[in-house]
Amino acid sequence: VHVHVKPGTGEDVIGMQCNRFGGSLGGRAFWCRAVIRDKAFREASVANAAASIREPGNLRFDVVQEREDPTRFILVEVYSSAGAAAAHKETQHYLKWRECVADMMAEPRKVVQGVKYNSLAGEEPWRWSVSPSLSGKALPSSPIAAAAPMLPLLDGRSIPSIGFGCYKVGVVPGSAAGAAAAAKPAPAMQVIADAIAAGYRCFDSAQFYENEDLVGRALSASGMPRSELYIMSKVWTNKIFEGAAAVRAQCLKTIQDLGCEYLDLYMVHWPVPGKHVEAYKEMVALQSEGLVRSLGVSNYTVEDLADLQAAGLPLPTVNQIEINPFLYRKRTIAHFEGLGIRMQAYRALCNFGKTASMENEIVLSLAAKHGRSASQVLGRWCIQKGFQHIPKSERRERMDENARVFDFALDSEDMNRLEGLTTEKNLETFKSTYLKCVLRDTPLEGSMEGVKTEITLE
Ligand SMILES: NC(=O)c1ccc[n+]([C@@H]2O[C@H](COP(=O)([O-])OP(=O)(O)OC[C@H]3O[C@@H](n4cnc5c(N)ncnc54)[C@H](OP(=O)(O)O)[C@@H]3O)[C@@H](O)[C@H]2O)c1
Repeated sequence: VHVHVKPGTGEDVIGMQCNRFGGSLGGRAFWCRAVIRDKAFREASVANAAASIREPGNLRFDVVQEREDPTRFILVEVYSSAGAAAAHKETQHYLKWRECVADMMAEPRKVVQGVKYNSLAGEEPWRWSVSPSLSGKALPSSPIAAAAPMLPLLDGRSIPSIGFGCYKVGVVPGSAAGAAAAAKPAPAMQVIADAIAAGYRCFDSAQFYENEDLVGRALSASGMPRSELYIMSKVWTNKIFEGAAAVRAQCLKTIQDLGCEYLDLYMVHWPVPGKHVEAYKEMVALQSEGLVRSLGVSNYTVEDLADLQAAGLPLPTVNQIEINPFLYRKRTIAHFEGLGIRMQAYRALCNFGKTASMENEIVLSLAAKHGRSASQVLGRWCIQKGFQHIPKSERRERMDENARVFDFALDSEDMNRLEGLTTEKNLETFKSTYLKCVLRDTPLEGSMEGVKTEITLE
């Protein structure tokens, strides 16, 4: 659309409209110059955008004002279909906006046909969509994850059998493997709002993920009462190395960032040699003060657990480790479970962080057998084993898919075929990861000082 403001303003206005803003999506982008009246134009346009985003077929509606020249605006409107875009023009809010801004323009807007754009973000509608909770549309909620069975813990409390992994939600930590080449993550506000809408109530967070403030803001914005959420976090190696006071300060910071008053579960992220027992002791104190409900550990081997036992400390309620059919460490799991410690499976969908797990031939054949997806087969395996499943996805449809693991069953032959996927090589890769990570981000990184080399692998 070409727009000119009224004579006398001394400015020309250039604008454009495209009928297709990418693939099958109907969309329009206006570039308007509203000289002098920018405040009135801005207010009318923002009011129109706020109402438009609630239209059923609207995916997003942005009003962007140029910094250098605040009289210039770009309105980006994306609709799920050309029909939805046409319906927008019939709405009261659009008609009101049109009337309101009409006399800010010098002549009627002229539609320029034929300007087409490719959507570089991808053509799937979800890439454009503002999350339902942010747009105020009725939440298309899926109750499956919300109704997931609870798993008992040895301290008498219980934990949802499925949670949502928050690693790389909104932020890819600078020191994460492959961080430099990682794609820009979707905004945490959107991902968490979608996870809540998908029914997830349990969130696995950590100091290391560098996003606890974002996750906290998103959880608060969701309006979900604290009592219906199960929030867990982990203290990172640098604070464990610094000692008890640093662990305490970090726990308080995590609670503040997450805006959660208390943590349902607080874990030692890695058993830092010579330091993790003191960290755990401080967590026992935090628990007695009501700041933490259950205590847990992560990445502990049988030998690390023995350090806590030797110090006469209460057993952790969970051990969060990588578990999937490609890294099924039977002896370790049996040892922890034998003591009543619940296993949490991280990277249940991606062994060593590689989504090739979901392309494995056996996994795919079982997916075909049960009419399910590969992620559901891997998730179902965890659930049947009694492990807590904490998948992460930034895509709403995958969040739903990952949660649908309670309405089918793998038989014993299926389970055995999956378990046969663990190899000696994978156990060795696990070992080298462990040796590297226990001192990661500490002054002793790169050394082997105090690191246990004789650990139970299987
Ligand atoms: N304690 C620890 O040391 C530790 C270590 C690693 C992880 N964790 C925790 O465990 C959680 C889960 O582990 P993770 O995030 O590494 O891996 P994951 O949940 O097993 O897999 C996540 C990856 O799979 C993709 N994905 C998810 N659902 C999918 C589906 N249905 N189909 C195809 N691809 C799908 C995701 O991509 P999209 O997002 O693009 O969908 C992402 O690339 C973490 O978020 C974190 O909370 C803990």
